[in-house]
Amino acid sequence: MITLKSSREIELMRRAGKITAAARAVARDMVKPGVTTHQIDEAVYRFIKSQGATPSFLHYNGYPASVCVSVNDEIIHGIPGKRVLREGDIVSVDVGAYIGGYHGDCAGTYPCGDVSDEAMRLIRVTQQSFFEGLRFAREGYRIGDISHAVQSYVESQGFSIVREYVGHGIGQKMHEDPEVPNYGESGHGRRLLRGMTIAVEPMVNAGVASIIQMSDGWTVKTADGKNAAHYENTLLITAGEPEILTDLEGSLV
Ligand code: MF3
Ligand code: CO
Repeated sequence: MITLKSSREIELMRRAGKITAAARAVARDMVKPGVTTHQIDEAVYRFIKSQGATPSFLHYNGYPASVCVSVNDEIIHGIPGKRVLREGDIVSVDVGAYIGGYHGDCAGTYPCGDVSDEAMRLIRVTQQSFFEGLRFAREGYRIGDISHAVQSYVESQGFSIVREYVGHGIGQKMHEDPEVPNYGESGHGRRLLRGMTIAVEPMVNAGVASIIQMSDGWTVKTADGKNAAHYENTLLITAGEPEILTDLEGSLV
């Protein structure tokens, strides 16, 4: 069931979204050679708690951390630990915060020091694919319009879309209806209505689209060992421009 949020609920989602966006910035700023993925988790945990919020991911289906940190060929759900980031890595961070009964959810991929031109292109294309989808994230369009825009842009750039994981409605629960795939056909899927809140989150592989699931039960990697990137924001659907709820003072990263 898709829930339409009231103006009171939207206010609460704005608060959750701001804290989530700020937590992503905390994680982003720690992406440097020599830093461990655990140190990023610790900093994000402390920040979210300092805001009076709770990390949405911690203990979600048994997930053991506050942030997912996925390096290079890791696409999503990397568990923070002893791994030390190195110059040339690309690092995806995904974070959620819960406050006032509502969740925010966002992600981004960031370069660790100097990275190759091709790695940088993957990061930029992934981020841009979100904005291509965003053009259709408003009342009057359908979910499939967003999906198609993301997919066609990514494929036009020679990269591939992960299909096994998708975006989602979000609100009192982190995962609500509808699903928001990053592939599909224009004109298909549910109609978008003002008051819907959705997380749009393209996961893009430099090589083949296929994935492998690691034995830790969480980490998802590219099947060919090539890099992957991820970019996500929580949105409010309106009659006009969507409102990006995980935006930090207009400086989206
Ligand atoms: N942003 C991810 C999602 O939308 C976060 C889930 S990771 C988990 O599904 F650890 F919380 F499961
Ligand atoms: Co999400």
